[in-house]
Amino acid sequence: MSNKSTALVIGASRGLGLALAEEYLTRGWQIIATTRSHSEGLDSLRRRFGVSLEIEQVDVVDLNSVRSLRSSLEGRELDTLFVNAGICKANELTPVQVAEKDYLDMLLTNALSPMRVIELFHDRVNVNGVIAVMSSELGSIADSTGFWELYSSSKAALNMLMKSFHARHVEDTRALLLVAPGWVRTDMGSQNALLDVSESIPLVVDVVTRNAGVPGLRFLDRHGAELPW
Ligand SMILES: NC(=O)c1ccc[n+]([C@@H]2O[C@H](COP(=O)([O-])OP(=O)(O)OC[C@H]3O[C@@H](n4cnc5c(N)ncnc54)[C@H](OP(=O)(O)O)[C@@H]3O)[C@@H](O)[C@H]2O)c1
Repeated sequence: MSNKSTALVIGASRGLGLALAEEYLTRGWQIIATTRSHSEGLDSLRRRFGVSLEIEQVDVVDLNSVRSLRSSLEGRELDTLFVNAGICKANELTPVQVAEKDYLDMLLTNALSPMRVIELFHDRVNVNGVIAVMSSELGSIADSTGFWELYSSSKAALNMLMKSFHARHVEDTRALLLVAPGWVRTDMGSQNALLDVSESIPLVVDVVTRNAGVPGLRFLDRHGAELPW
């Protein structure tokens, strides 16, 4: 394809994932961006950046679709894998109020499925590369105020699964990052959020870039500061 650095961004149809794809493209990277269905945002990036953007279809909760992406990317080496896909279906609800299916959907999408992507793709990432997954400040148990408790618990579960993955791959030289982007104005973050996408994603990409070649697992905010687990 070229000797450009390559990133695979999982869940890039809109919001932070779309902004990640755009930021990497602006920095001259080759991007493989995934969407569940048609994404006007990705189509627009494709018009701007041409063949530097490849668009693939994946629903992260469908393991067959993740396996099929793995097959279609046979032979491709990634410098960065960034799993961004996530949902929030409960906001301020409590365990008694939430519909069980909504809670299970969150656990499946936010915790189990990103880890399945990482399990299936980690050997496709360059040994000096980065495997990043979008966590949240709300995933910190130590810092929890109880805000969005059910969503937060799904990100805490993600953090735990990343920790366990690291324990099984302790000799691995790739950087493993749980990234907290701040509270950002997207469909999920809402218009009440503190940050514009442009105040978060360039910093997130800087953090990921700085961590290339630095083995180990870290839970970091957008400035690169370590967060309490
Ligand atoms: N915004 C914030 O303040 C904030 C803060 C901390 C962490 N985060 C995390 O950042 C990530 C992105 O959030 P966002 O604010 O950009 O949310 P968003 O605007 O709601 O976008 C969510 C993205 O995830 C994708 N997605 C959801 N379920 C998927 C699935 N089953 N398979 C594939 N893709 C799926 C969506 O695709 P579709 O278009 O197909 O639905 C969309 O691209 C999430 O992991 C979120 O938890 C966000």
